[in-house]
Amino acid sequence: MKFIEKIKLPRRFFVTGTDTSVGKTIISAILMVGLKASYWKPIQSGLSEITDTNWIRGVSGLSDAHFLPENYKFSKPISPHASAQSDGIQIALESFNLPAGDQDDQSSRLIVEGAGGVMVPLNERHLMVDLMKRLDLPVILVARSTLGTINHTLLSLEQLRQKNLEVIGVVMNGPKNEINKSAIETYGKTTVLAEVEMLSDVNSKTLQKAYDRYFK
Ligand SMILES: Nc1ncnc2c1ncn2[C@@H]1O[C@H](COP(=O)(O)OP(=O)(O)OP(=O)(O)O)[C@@H](O)[C@H]1O
Ligand SMILES: [Mg+2]
Repeated sequence: MKFIEKIKLPRRFFVTGTDTSVGKTIISAILMVGLKASYWKPIQSGLSEITDTNWIRGVSGLSDAHFLPENYKFSKPISPHASAQSDGIQIALESFNLPAGDQDDQSSRLIVEGAGGVMVPLNERHLMVDLMKRLDLPVILVARSTLGTINHTLLSLEQLRQKNLEVIGVVMNGPKNEINKSAIETYGKTTVLAEVEMLSDVNSKTLQKAYDRYFK
């Protein structure tokens, strides 16, 4: 089957979410496999379960060259500011820098995944949105499709725009919900790029299929 490119995504972008466990990693995995992009999770909170980087490495089948190391890895699966404090570390915003790369070089595609949502504190002064601003990347917002998402999504969009960050659009994750989709587009003045439904199995094949279905 021949696909027509539906969404033109920038070469590098940041994937944030309306909440933790909203689907940032699985959406990043779908986009990574489809775009053959690299992945960077600058802050990983929680090491008892598999890290996001290692989970994507496992399911995507992409080589190690596609994965940048985290800047910070903290033991406890709690907010980065508290997890850092518990490990006796202070997150420094200045420590985050995008890898060098030619703007026009499509082979150096990069997906950066945040931790939690937009207003998650990193230290006493900075929030996750400040990290996005430092990297100055366009942003994809991952949102639940279910009840409650309109409020979370509109609040997150407002915060991103207040920081003058470019919002590429929203990816809704979960069972299709036309009312929520239409409210997010109308009141959020944005585009829902895709409505991704539950994958029953997650591996390189199903991720590629999901990319073709939802993003092409
Ligand atoms: N569309 C989907 N299909 C299959 N599994 C999904 C889907 N969306 C989410 N999940 C599962 O739900 C869980 C939470 O999703 P995910 O890890 O992507 O959230 P997250 O926003 O990245 O969380 P965190 O804030 O911890 O980084 C994971 O086990 C993930 O595989
Ligand atoms: Mg994640």
